Amino acid sequence: MDSILVTGGGELSGQIPIAGAKNACLTLMPATLLSDEPLTLTNAPRLSDIKTMTELLQSLGAEVTSLQDGKVLAMSSHTISNHTADYDIVRKMRASILVLGPMLARDGHAVVSLPGGCAIGARPVDLHLKALEALGAELELKDGYVHAKAPGGLKGGIVDFPLVSVGATENVLMAATLAKGTTVINNAAREPEIVDLADCLRKMGAQIDGDGTSTITVQGVDRLHGATHPVVTDRIELGTYMLAPAICGGEVELLGGRLDLVAAFCEKLDAAGISVEETDKGLKVARRNGRITAVDVVTEPFPGFPTDLQAQMMALLCTANGTSVLEEKIFENRFMHAPELIRMGAQIEVHGGTATVTGVDQLKGAPVMATDLRASVSLILAGLAAEGETVVSRVYHLDRGYEHVVGKLSAVGAKIERIKGQ
Ligand code: EPZ
Repeated sequence: MDSILVTGGGELSGQIPIAGAKNACLTLMPATLLSDEPLTLTNAPRLSDIKTMTELLQSLGAEVTSLQDGKVLAMSSHTISNHTADYDIVRKMRASILVLGPMLARDGHAVVSLPGGCAIGARPVDLHLKALEALGAELELKDGYVHAKAPGGLKGGIVDFPLVSVGATENVLMAATLAKGTTVINNAAREPEIVDLADCLRKMGAQIDGDGTSTITVQGVDRLHGATHPVVTDRIELGTYMLAPAICGGEVELLGGRLDLVAAFCEKLDAAGISVEETDKGLKVARRNGRITAVDVVTEPFPGFPTDLQAQMMALLCTANGTSVLEEKIFENRFMHAPELIRMGAQIEVHGGTATVTGVDQLKGAPVMATDLRASVSLILAGLAAEGETVVSRVYHLDRGYEHVVGKLSAVGAKIERIKGQ
C-alpha cells in the first residue's frame, strides 16, 4: 500500500485547480439508466470511486467510455441487460445504491445489494427504501439484497423524509422523473449536488421544481432523452485546499472555486482569521495574521457546515489560539482522525459526537494512518504545518476522493511525495 510523505514548514503560494464534484458525479452517472439515449458528463473527476461506479454501470449493461483522460464520461444504456447490482461492487462504495431508483423507474424491477456500513457509521438505506415505497415500489429484503418491483410502473406520491438524506433524495428524485403523476419530496436535501442532478435531469426532459429548497416537486414524464452536462465544482475538494494556506500561511488561488458552494465554511474561516477573496478565476485564500483563532463548528445538512469538511477543519483548529468545540451531527463515528492528530501532538478530547480541541503552538510530524476519505486529507493538512516529517499510510482512502493531491499541493510549494508501497 502506498503512503504519502509530507515535510512540514514553509508558506504556500500559487494556484490549485478544483475538479468536478465526486458526490455529484456519483449520482449523475446512474441517471444514464433512466434513458435509452446517450448521457455525456464533462468536467468529471479522475477518482477510484468513479471507476467503481463505471464498473457497476457496465455490469448492468450500460456503455461507459472514459475520454480526455477521464474528464469526459460518454455513457449510454440502450437496454439494461442485468438488473442485479452485486455485493462485491456495492460493498466497495455505498453510492452504488443510487442505481436502484433509476432501474426501478426505467424497467419496473431491480435487485441491489445492501451496501453495508463503512468506517464513519452504519449508514443504513431505510430512507431510500421508504421513499421508493411511497412511489408504489414493492420491496423485499432477502439474503442481503433489496428485491424491488414496480408492476405497472411507479406512481407519483408524497415523500416525507424524517431526516435529511442526500442519497435518498437523489434516489427518489431520479425515480420520480418517470413515475406516473406528481411527486412531492418534503424535507429534501438541499446540497448543490442535488441541484446539479436536477439541472441534468431537466436537460434530459424531466420536469422538476424546488431543487435546492426543502420541497421538490416532480411531474413524471413518459421518457427521458439524452443530454450533455458538466459536473459541478467539488465544494469539498475546494474547502479542503482552502485550508492549505490557512494552516501553512501564504496565499493560494483556488481555480473554479465558487463562494456560494462554501458559504457556511467561509463564515468559519473568517471567524478563525482567514481571508477569502473572490477573483475572476475563483477564490483567493490567505491567513490574515499570525495565529488562527479558535472557532466552534456544528456540522449540518446544506447550507450548514458540511460534515465532509469537519476533519479538515479540525486539523486547522489543532494549532489555533484557544479551544474549539466541534459537534458532528450527521454521522455517528466521524472523529477517527482525532487519535492520529493526537499522535502529532494535538490536544483533542472526544466525547460521543463532540470533540474539544485545545490549540497547541506546533504540531510534530509522525507516522499516521488514514481511516477514511476525509480523515486522510486532514492528516496531510496537519503534516503541512507540522515540524518534521509525517507519513500518512493507507492512502487508498485518499484516491477515492482526491485526484493528484501530491501534484496539486507540490505546485504551490508543499514538500509532499507519494511513496510506492511494497
Ligand atoms: C452523502 O452520503 C455523501 N456521499 C457523503 O460524502 C456526505 O457525507 C453525506 O451525503 C452527507 O452530506 C455521496 O454523495 C456519495 P446521507 P449519504 O444519506 O447520501 C442517515 C464523502 O466523504 N441515513 O445524507 O450516504 C445516515 O446514516 C461522503 O464524500 C439513514 O439513517 O448521506 C447519516 O447519519 C461521506 N437512512 C445521515 O442520514 C438512510 O436511508 C445523512 O446521510 C440514509 C441515510
